[in-house]
Amino acid sequence: MSLTRRQTLQVLSATSMGLALQTSAGTQGTQEQTPVPSGASVQPHRPHALVPLTFDPKKLTGISERMIVSHHENNYSGAVKNLNKVREQLAALAADAPGFVVSGLKERELVFRNSAVLHELYFANLGGDGKRAGAIGTALSETWGSAARWEAEFRATAQSLAGGSGWVVLAFDLWSRELRSYWSGNHTQGPAAAYPLLVLDMYEHAYHLDNGAAAAKYIDAFFANVRWEEVDDRFGRALKAAALLGS
Ligand SMILES: [Fe+2]
Repeated sequence: MSLTRRQTLQVLSATSMGLALQTSAGTQGTQEQTPVPSGASVQPHRPHALVPLTFDPKKLTGISERMIVSHHENNYSGAVKNLNKVREQLAALAADAPGFVVSGLKERELVFRNSAVLHELYFANLGGDGKRAGAIGTALSETWGSAARWEAEFRATAQSLAGGSGWVVLAFDLWSRELRSYWSGNHTQGPAAAYPLLVLDMYEHAYHLDNGAAAAKYIDAFFANVRWEEVDDRFGRALKAAALLGS
């Protein structure tokens, strides 16, 4: 069965960062609590696999091995474990499960799913030398006037999250077909139909062991370790997706 452009975008949205599920059931618990229909509404559980670090954690600049390994083994791994537990429970839901149980599990599924995916994107865009490379460098300059202006905006967005939690994401917006840097205050805020290219974790757990509350030092360290080859590869995939979607 072929998909329409809108259906294709919905599929892509579900695999990009921060998309709230567009369901009629909602997740706020304010709708009438309708029991789950008997039988076939439950999707079989397929475990989310843990992705190992793709770089030597001893070799990052300004981010310690202790910090990055703890982040991976505790925060990211915890999200994956919780995602799988939630999905196990969803797969085992009784046919007469009340709506508030379904909405609670679905809300947690979205939180843990986005946390897992955003962490995978974050770790995978580390381990480099921080030097912009490829078509993405040119595109940043063309879009912002200079890559330095893009970086200043990205850094300011990150600094605005200091002391709290959230993500900063350079994305290719598949809806408007432009590069944008987005702010996200938690795992479930983010642009629909946007493909993440560069992901920065601004939760305090990402830097507090190394830097205390000095988020600016962490942002400097992040930029020193960006693997721009990965960012450029994601940019290429985003452009291909946009081409497939058509105008
Ligand atoms: Fe994190």
